[in-house]
Amino acid sequence: MSKILSTTPLFEVEAERLGADGHELWMPSQPGTLLREDLLSRLPEADALLCLLSDRIDAELLCAGSRLKLVANIGVGYENIDIESAQDLGIAVTNTPDVLTEATADMTFALLLAAARRIPEANAALRAGQFPAWRLDQPLLGLDVHGKTLGILGMGRIGAAVARRGRHGFVMRVLYHNRSRKKEFEEEIGAEFVAFERLLRESDFLCVHVPGTDETRHLIDADALALMKSTAILVNAARGPVVDEAALAEALATGTIAGAGLDVFEREPDVHPRLLETSERVVLTPHLGSATRDTRRAMVRLAVDNVLAVLSGERPITPV
Ligand code: GLV
Repeated sequence: MSKILSTTPLFEVEAERLGADGHELWMPSQPGTLLREDLLSRLPEADALLCLLSDRIDAELLCAGSRLKLVANIGVGYENIDIESAQDLGIAVTNTPDVLTEATADMTFALLLAAARRIPEANAALRAGQFPAWRLDQPLLGLDVHGKTLGILGMGRIGAAVARRGRHGFVMRVLYHNRSRKKEFEEEIGAEFVAFERLLRESDFLCVHVPGTDETRHLIDADALALMKSTAILVNAARGPVVDEAALAEALATGTIAGAGLDVFEREPDVHPRLLETSERVVLTPHLGSATRDTRRAMVRLAVDNVLAVLSGERPITPV
């Protein structure tokens, strides 16, 4: 019998699957209540650890897990885990790609539309009792989305899913920049590979889909923002540190760009105070990219599948 530790309560059906396979699972009764000391003291017994993006799994924790075979992250990003130490210690690490691609792409497009058509501002105005008379220069005039240029920075799975929505749903011209060209994708969707500067200059909507690494930190800084159209909207549902938040707040305040839809932030859960003050065409959500019922269930299912595979001596299904 193997012992599995989860930093967060799992859905019942998944907890039951682990039990049915003869494993013993320990998990806290409430999310966000497991203290680091508690985790440290439980790790020496554990054969597998299930964790979230918000759990920093560093070398100290990994070393404490002297029996650990696997760390299964419930999320696609894994910058919360010290991968090098895990490798040195022979601990496999898995994530949950694919199952959250479409939900995250939906969220990206929701932010894009909400910022362009000023839906949160309109919603707040209506609830405050304002229903302005129908007039041509309505104060909440928005920006067209259909037929505009969609820029994708980072053409991985999620970038591609957003590009498909733009191309097929909104008849947009799609430009992209990526470390490598994706020729099949260019053919599939008619997307054009362009240099980073051209992407910035020509996009009406620029969606960030690169991972959070040292190389991508502040890729969108004051210089990059200065190259964008003054009518452009920046959307980031990838990783906060890719965008220099102070520079973005300044760019929004001075009209360098027209708006932003942000689901991720540089120092979550903190949000730059100047961004919180800006509401015109600025939509902020608390890291909800994969937060739908079906997708969260699919993520846990895949993480549990990884645990069951590794504990029965098979290869992990989605190793990082
Ligand atoms: C969410 O941001 C994830 O990486 O799964």
